[in-house]
Amino acid sequence: MKTLIPTAFYSDPSIFHREQSALFQDQWHFVGFTFDLKNHHDYICTEVGGYSVVIQNFDGDLKGFHNVCSHRFSPIRTNSCGNGVLQCPYHGWIYNREGIPYAIPKRPRFETFDAPALEALSLESWQVETCGSLVFTKKPANGVSLVDYLGESYDDLVSISSAVGPKLDCNEMVIKSNWKIVVENTLESYHVGFIHPQTFNKLGASGFEFKFNGPHSSWTAPLADKVNKSWSRVASTFSTRPLQVDGYLHHLIFPNLTIATTFGASFSVQLFKPLNAQETHFTSWVFSTQLDELSNAQESIVDMMNQSVIELNRSVFAEDKAICEQVQIGTSRTGKAGVLSEEEYRVFEFQKAYMGAMSSI
Ligand code: FES
Ligand SMILES: [Fe+2]
Repeated sequence: MKTLIPTAFYSDPSIFHREQSALFQDQWHFVGFTFDLKNHHDYICTEVGGYSVVIQNFDGDLKGFHNVCSHRFSPIRTNSCGNGVLQCPYHGWIYNREGIPYAIPKRPRFETFDAPALEALSLESWQVETCGSLVFTKKPANGVSLVDYLGESYDDLVSISSAVGPKLDCNEMVIKSNWKIVVENTLESYHVGFIHPQTFNKLGASGFEFKFNGPHSSWTAPLADKVNKSWSRVASTFSTRPLQVDGYLHHLIFPNLTIATTFGASFSVQLFKPLNAQETHFTSWVFSTQLDELSNAQESIVDMMNQSVIELNRSVFAEDKAICEQVQIGTSRTGKAGVLSEEEYRVFEFQKAYMGAMSSI
């Protein structure tokens, strides 16, 4: 199989701008977790497709707005998360759950602000939907619901994200590489022996059990005998975990979100946000699983496992970062197509979905 994405697409700024619209505004995009938005006025502020978007809890309802004040265009939120009324820091306008300004300092000094005039000043709203504990947003436009967008992956994501327990780590970094290089790297195990000999390779995840669902895909992989043996010694400690997975499971939610679990005992969620044509903002969250009450001895086992999961994830992504930055340099030195093996079939399907989305605009 030949690769489908032309090499220039990994560094061309005009392609980056097309992607912003075709992939990051017109598709559902992961922004965070419901448990980080559980209280009235909790918010997350993030960049999606070149827009700054704030997602805020209003009495239990999650609402999304373009994060630019209608008065004179200050960003309303300047932190990536927090809690508080939706108030612009510049002149103090406060917006309600419909995005309409309702408290305006020195209001009589403006011309009439009747209800239609205030409504005309409402913030542009963004769609917000959830799947389990995952929160997604999308620019308003005709288009599919989140359930339809995720298709058969929806139920899997509900069960995975609902089983997630305490947050163990959040690892953020800028990778000097196009976001597609980093996503493609996570979709194949061909590189594992060379890039992760002392880390991920030791799990021995193998096989070709791929599932495709529209642009999304997953991989279920049995693990090495040695790993299964070690697991069997501690499995009883994790017997009350809500999701029991036999080995390793990795999902891609197109275009740039991956979720993986090992035995349903630990979870990792990665978001690959394009910063520009040649840089990616990478975030990796690691979670333990939910468990019923544990004895002190069992808690020590869980703590030990959690520590090794954090270290493994950090090492693996440092190794991936280094090779992806090298590949970025390589793509700018050639115009040739590459080739893909059977083991890289999810890369091929990712590229097919990507080219399909790009040809839609
Ligand atoms: S710019 Fe926001 S209140 Fe003036
Ligand atoms: Fe890797």
